[in-house]
Amino acid sequence: MIEAQSKETVVCQRYAAGAKERAEKLCCPVEYEWEYLKVIPPEVIERDYGCGDPSRYLRDGETVLDLGSGTGKICFIAAQIVGPKGKVIGVDMTDEMLEVARRNAPIVAERIGYANVEFRKGRIQDLALDLELLDRELRQNPITDAASFLAADELAEELRVRHPLIISDSVDVVVSSCVLNLVEPKSKRQLFKEMFRVLKKGGRAVISDVVSDEEVPEEMQNDPELWSGCISGAFTEEGFLAAFEDAGFYGIQILKRDAEPWRTVNGIEFRSLTIEAFKGKQGECFERNQAVIYRGPFKEVLDDDNHRMERGRRYAVCDKAYNLYKKAPYHEFFEFVDPLVDVPLQKAKPFDCSRISLRHPKETKGQNYNATTEVNSKCCDGGSCC
Ligand SMILES: C[S@@+](CC[C@H](N)C(=O)[O-])C[C@H]1O[C@@H](n2cnc3c(N)ncnc32)[C@H](O)[C@@H]1O
Repeated sequence: MIEAQSKETVVCQRYAAGAKERAEKLCCPVEYEWEYLKVIPPEVIERDYGCGDPSRYLRDGETVLDLGSGTGKICFIAAQIVGPKGKVIGVDMTDEMLEVARRNAPIVAERIGYANVEFRKGRIQDLALDLELLDRELRQNPITDAASFLAADELAEELRVRHPLIISDSVDVVVSSCVLNLVEPKSKRQLFKEMFRVLKKGGRAVISDVVSDEEVPEEMQNDPELWSGCISGAFTEEGFLAAFEDAGFYGIQILKRDAEPWRTVNGIEFRSLTIEAFKGKQGECFERNQAVIYRGPFKEVLDDDNHRMERGRRYAVCDKAYNLYKKAPYHEFFEFVDPLVDVPLQKAKPFDCSRISLRHPKETKGQNYNATTEVNSKCCDGGSCC
């Protein structure tokens, strides 16, 4: 049973073998954009153990981090989408996977005309620790007793601080395909904290993973074959979204949910889900007399700060929320009402975001506003409304 070996060891061994030879059982059919596959060598494509394609949500110039990059396929696709001004970093803990990915990186670079991908060795729940640096140090000072074990622990901590594998606030998009489920239960919370740490403010996670429609019972979780096969470590559909929320992400949404399960085991369905979640709602709240109107179609919505807004009503929001709503994923759902007289940020007073209140139009226009105007000529452009 799995107690004899940690889940992580089992995962490492299974994917070390999967890097050397295609493991049919680990393959979940995914549709990629064909034009990006043309430059990727066959050994990378055939050892594809992903369950979704987060790369299709990337944009030109972005810095991307792929968690559990395997033989590198998502990284090589991402390299072409983000272009020469962008950058892609793949992180994996399995040497054999890194070997295939690194060997193929110069081939892809030559075919696309630039090199913007690199692969680093690390555990995705501990993205500060560079395992190759640690390997090097441990070769010089091997662990032989309790004292050297404790010294190694201290050294790891020093490496995290002085030479982090992925520095904080450095990444535009964290992507991953079929890896989060493989992380041990005790480290899953830390994994989400790490994703959050490395993202820039305003950055986002786009993650494809296998999720279950029911809780996975413990005996299935203790089955090494099911665990390392991307089945029994799966979050439930709702647990997956909640984990992002707990880590401080906002604007979380399902981008793609396979209607058909990839596998069904003991009546539990396991299918691919791709979600998007943003970092950046943290920070101070200032009053600049701005307002938003939820356009519908639902009668009301509840945002990630528990602000309930009814369709069509004008709500007072702080400057931070106003600017968040102006961007993806919210902008299409709101109308934006600026005050008639701008309140400069330097002069703005603190705004109490613990509650939500309506904003009277008089607050927008000013209490003494008393204008009477002619017909707005802009309204008649094209003759649509008069
Ligand atoms: C199912 S494969 C997916 C590979 C790749 N994303 C793809 O689309 O083909 C899982 C990969 O994640 C790596 N992996 C699993 N757990 C990991 C962890 N905790 N830290 C780093 N890599 C991990 C494995 O070595 C393997 O390469």
